[in-house]
Amino acid sequence: MIGHSGQQTIQIIKTHLADGANGEGRSDLDLLNFFSAIALMIAVHVFFGLKVRFDDSVQLAQDLSDILRFLEGRLWSPIPLPLWVPTKDNQHFNQRNRHFHRFLDQQIDQRLGGEGDDQGALLLDAILGANGLSASDRAENPDTRRKTTRAQLLSILIAAFETSALSMLWSLILLKQNPAIEAQMRAEADAVLNAEELTTAHINQLEISKRVYQESMRLYPPGWCFSRELEKPHQFGETHLSAGKTVVLCAYNIHRNPLYWEHPTRFYPDHFTSENSAKRPRHAYFPFAGGRHACLGARFAMLEGPYLLSLILKNFEIDIEEADKIKPIAATTLRPDRPVRAHFALRP
Ligand code: HEM
Repeated sequence: MIGHSGQQTIQIIKTHLADGANGEGRSDLDLLNFFSAIALMIAVHVFFGLKVRFDDSVQLAQDLSDILRFLEGRLWSPIPLPLWVPTKDNQHFNQRNRHFHRFLDQQIDQRLGGEGDDQGALLLDAILGANGLSASDRAENPDTRRKTTRAQLLSILIAAFETSALSMLWSLILLKQNPAIEAQMRAEADAVLNAEELTTAHINQLEISKRVYQESMRLYPPGWCFSRELEKPHQFGETHLSAGKTVVLCAYNIHRNPLYWEHPTRFYPDHFTSENSAKRPRHAYFPFAGGRHACLGARFAMLEGPYLLSLILKNFEIDIEEADKIKPIAATTLRPDRPVRAHFALRP
């Protein structure tokens, strides 16, 4: 399934981004929006067993981003207005939210109607089953169960789409800033990804790519900061914290702490050779969080990211406008401070 997603991604880049490839070349497309749409499309395929067209996915990813940005804004607002107050922002949010919920309803209906790939839909089927939704229920419109199902599907897509897109984006930016490493990774991609049918075994051979991806999430962890509540009292050095206190974990800082990293602020994928990784404490690196609420998609992301990046390098020369100037901004995720424009050209 991941092999198919990769080939589809290359085809989409050819059609929508690459200069002159199939004629269209839309190099004005912001690269974060582009990868968000790709990541959403892949997530729907891999986790729900269903298909979305790329053009629809662009709109859906935009809906989801707008929903997230709006909710982020409300976190900081001293008095968030109820959503029924017809402000411009509320109206925009309500419209995007309705659109996305309609899409989720379609996914539920399609699967209850027997559409989709049975193997890929295992997770979706489990969620539908756990909420007591079945094909025979469709006409009865069980609203609360549908609402819970929609919320669960939404949380999976939110967790999956922007994090994956950002990790790809930062990796490409860092590669453009470090051409020697880009050349090594491209040579590896040329050597490994040349079989007709690509399998997980091929992806596992992409060692440089995996290290590049890990290193990019070290410098720019998409989930750069999150919190946990202490179940038990804990002593942090000289600071005692009682149970129930909230602890904020900042991956961005720990990932750059000179105690653990040979080159704290430099892009140095060799931080992740097995030898170097073995020297570090386990939680010096946690782009996927850890413990009971660690990321459920971590293993998938570690397959998807290195594979797609390698496939892209194998197929295209990429130029990112002002790659050296792009800086992160710390919102709920670690995003670039400006739209990222890129030019893709098919390699001979
Ligand atoms: C590079 C890609 C990804 C990164 C960097 C990432 C990172 C994270 C982080 C840091 C958390 C913890 C957030 C918190 O506690 O506030 C998390 C949770 C989660 N992630 Fe991911 N994630 C990625 C991809 C995915 C994908 C593809 C899925 C698809 C299923 C996914 C599903 C989840 C879920 C369901 C949780 C919540 C787990 C829980 O609360 O028990 N993630 N992720």
